[in-house]
Amino acid sequence: MDKYYEFVYELKASEEEKIIDQFIKYGFNSFYFEEDVESSKTFLKLYVKKEEQIKDILDLLSMYGLKLLSKEITEESKWLEEWKKTIDVFELIDGIWINPFSNKKIEKPGIVLNIIPGSAFGTGLHSTTKLAAELLRKVGCTGKDVIDVGTGSGILSALAKKIGANRVLALDNDDLATEKAKETAILNNVDIEIKESDLLSAVGEHERFDILVSNIVAEVLIQLMKDPKFDKILKNKGFVILSGIIESKEKLVIEQAKDVNLVLKEKMEDGSWIALLFQKKI
Ligand SMILES: C[S@@+](CC[C@H](N)C(=O)[O-])C[C@H]1O[C@@H](n2cnc3c(N)ncnc32)[C@H](O)[C@@H]1O
Repeated sequence: MDKYYEFVYELKASEEEKIIDQFIKYGFNSFYFEEDVESSKTFLKLYVKKEEQIKDILDLLSMYGLKLLSKEITEESKWLEEWKKTIDVFELIDGIWINPFSNKKIEKPGIVLNIIPGSAFGTGLHSTTKLAAELLRKVGCTGKDVIDVGTGSGILSALAKKIGANRVLALDNDDLATEKAKETAILNNVDIEIKESDLLSAVGEHERFDILVSNIVAEVLIQLMKDPKFDKILKNKGFVILSGIIESKEKLVIEQAKDVNLVLKEKMEDGSWIALLFQKKI
């Protein structure tokens, strides 16, 4: 059984959102909040698998001056059990449901995706994933070849496949994410190619895609567009969905997109998060 380091902090409920945003930017997903109704205290429980991540994550939290209550070594199964108590089946976007339970079959009108969270990002609860999912459905995946850069749990790749994509290539530079994405493919009985890759490094020179989807952060999305393979791998009139952009970085992303021949087709927003849909000029 995999070992995790468990850290428990006490915090103010008003700090929850800021902390979630910091974790998203870092690509960290294995945490949840617990509220004690009697004492009206809020606790943050986080689970770190890689020792080298501990310093980064604790540094991130240090700016909030939170009180560390405990630190111990635990097992993945234990934290998943705890996490499951805080979550239920939910609708990712209209008609697309997420079932986070491995032992429960659910019947819902529409599509059900089985996503068991681990330390990979992509439970479907965050706005950036929802926005990307909405745009994927909007452009339509039927018969299309899709590349998902920064796949995390594999949630968007599984969705693309379920809504009719032909080929799906899922990439992530984190080996824990590619492991989870493989599990997601099996759980959903879909055929997805999954590779460990820093941006497009693992993509062959001659591979071509109709849709590229990437939910990371603006700085990394800009790097992605600067990758010399970016233009080549996208078919003419191909679509690019970029999510994980905060308001203040939107302009920078659009500027870079113009430089690589992309035309802005649609913008979606949720709170301070933005997702953009572009189409490649011929
Ligand atoms: C915000 S998560 C998105 C997960 C999932 N696609 C979703 O929409 O919920 C971003 C993912 O990008 C990955 N990532 C970050 N930088 C990357 C890079 N340079 N190359 C490939 N993947 C990267 C992270 O490991 C993380 O799994």
